[in-house]
Amino acid sequence: MEQLEQQQAETLGAIAEAATPEAVEAIRVAALGKQGWVSALLKTLGGMSPEQRQSEGPKIHAAREAVTAALAERKGALEAAALDARLAAETVDLSLPAPEAPKGSVHPVSQVMDELAEIFADMGFAVASGPEIEDDWHNFTALNMPETHPARAMHDTFYFPDKDAEGRAMLLRTHTSPVQIRAMLKQGAPLRVIAPGRVYRSDSDATHTPMFHQIEGLVIDKGIHLGHLKWTLETFLKAFFERDDIVLRLRPSYFPFTEPSVEVDVGYTVVNGKRVVGGGGDVENGGWMEVLGSGMVNRRVIEFGGLDPDQWQGFAFGTGVDRLAMLKYGMDDLRAFFDGDVRWLQHYGFGALDVPTLSGGVGVKA
Ligand code: PHE
Repeated sequence: MEQLEQQQAETLGAIAEAATPEAVEAIRVAALGKQGWVSALLKTLGGMSPEQRQSEGPKIHAAREAVTAALAERKGALEAAALDARLAAETVDLSLPAPEAPKGSVHPVSQVMDELAEIFADMGFAVASGPEIEDDWHNFTALNMPETHPARAMHDTFYFPDKDAEGRAMLLRTHTSPVQIRAMLKQGAPLRVIAPGRVYRSDSDATHTPMFHQIEGLVIDKGIHLGHLKWTLETFLKAFFERDDIVLRLRPSYFPFTEPSVEVDVGYTVVNGKRVVGGGGDVENGGWMEVLGSGMVNRRVIEFGGLDPDQWQGFAFGTGVDRLAMLKYGMDDLRAFFDGDVRWLQHYGFGALDVPTLSGGVGVKA
């Protein structure tokens, strides 16, 4: 029996020192396996006298239990250590540095279009669009400019050599106003849309490029009047320039597709020799600059849009997106907008994650 105690002590010692699950398993086989020493001792119980069995049996069983428990504990400890090691080896280093300079930037025109969409969405306007390759019916005729109308000549239109299947002259749209017609024909009334996009005119100097961007606005509903137009434009300009001291001056004007037509000037103040939108107007260090063309939609245009002008009225406005960007962000040469110079883009561009929101500020710069 001394031998049992010695073997048990040796086995427990070996278990405590076993470094791998395989070593633990080998010890288990040597002790509890068919040929193991514990199993051999258990077999001797059959040959014992009842008295001997009574005194030795519990010792042998106790040895088996002690070894079994030690094996399980050691196995568990080794498995836990292996798992810890694996978890430590498999970690992902989330502190890896980001690229030094973000690549690419959002062009100010895209940024301003996003700002406009956000501002007008808040007033219930959806975004509509139309083709840049237009026919002269949508671009001119349906906007109350028949073939002989002198206003057509003012547009410096790029025409295509061929007519379309219906015999209409094809052109690059000269303004976003044809989207008024397309929106009315497609969606009917009531209607509240803006239409930003590219337009084309044969014109080129520091403030004119052959391609530029406009945004159109159109509201068609019942009982719409000039007051709605003025409130909408004032609300829009205050949100866009992010100041409350926006003053508007509405001047009588002429567009074939609106009646009456108004050109909208916004007050500016001269700060450090530069014109800044806000305040201004008829005061000493201020003045007015034209920012929008607008008016009540001409009855004939509502008819061309497939609606009854005795039932539906509306207002429309249009303005240059590039010019709005220049006024807000301070560029002074329009041509640089389309040069694709990365230094210009780095300076005037916006971060891709800088999505304009009314709550966060529509023009926050990275
Ligand atoms: N389409 C006009 C332009 O290009 C602007 C405008 C739009 C005027 C809507 C009145 C109403 O100059």
